[in-house]
Amino acid sequence: MLVNLRDICAIAEQNNMAVGAFNAPSLEAVRAVIDAAEETGYPVILQHAEVHENIVPLDVMGPTMVALAERSSAQICVHLDHGENLSYLHRALEYGFTGVMFDGSTLPYEDNVYYSARAAEMCSGYDCGLECELGSMGAREGDVLTEDGAEAQAGGSGAVYTDPDQASDFVSETGLDILACSFGTVHGLYRGKPQLSFDVLKAIRDRVRIPLVMHGGSGVSDEDYRQAIDAGIRKINYYTYGAKYAGEAACEVADAVRASGAGSPVYWHDLTSAAYDRLVKDFIDVMKVFANGAKPVA
Ligand code: 13P
Repeated sequence: MLVNLRDICAIAEQNNMAVGAFNAPSLEAVRAVIDAAEETGYPVILQHAEVHENIVPLDVMGPTMVALAERSSAQICVHLDHGENLSYLHRALEYGFTGVMFDGSTLPYEDNVYYSARAAEMCSGYDCGLECELGSMGAREGDVLTEDGAEAQAGGSGAVYTDPDQASDFVSETGLDILACSFGTVHGLYRGKPQLSFDVLKAIRDRVRIPLVMHGGSGVSDEDYRQAIDAGIRKINYYTYGAKYAGEAACEVADAVRASGAGSPVYWHDLTSAAYDRLVKDFIDVMKVFANGAKPVA
């Protein structure tokens, strides 16, 4: 069933857990997210990122995600990830998304406030919650393995931690529902061990008392996930590792067919099936960690 972003984060709040928010730019990934949620009994957030428009367009993926979520027994929020244009947000709202993110984190603060507040006005006409971002994680999820991401991870110029006092102003000036904040995670692959600042996270949570969002969820240790959830993270965005594991699973199938020497072709459907199986396994594993000891809530 389709669930509003606010309601799904309220479930996470009540259970001191985080809901997994998975980017799914293929039918295999969409099915894997939904099937993992049905299998585990945990609510889930199914995401389409604006930056993935070139992989699969919103007008294909949006209606597909909404239709599959509606008929599922799992509690699913269909969410737009990193919307940077209000017109794109509007299209997602019209397709029936129950959550959207407006990401003005690269804009000057005043502009981020202005456009985030416009996004909140837009959402008020729909059954939809709003996520906005303050601070910067140094790279976008399309930019795997960039120098920016590596710098951000090291606390370099790409990383701008969210300022807790500014976060408090930002929440009251915009009317958002949940806040994506920067405290040391980056999108994409880490080159070393991520250094998260739980002090920054706790200071933000003390001031805003609303659900907080971790972006760049790949590559974080189980212990860091737990500490982040205990400090108020209620939504964890996860993409790169799942995509990497699915790619590896597809390559293994292709290698095995070629190594057999039988001369048979590598069939596309065998690659997508292997990728789907690997995604389901990975999503189930991380959903159980994000549950932070909470029992299934379906
Ligand atoms: P990763 O790609 O690091 O898993 O992060 C995903 C994300 O934050 C999407 O917004």
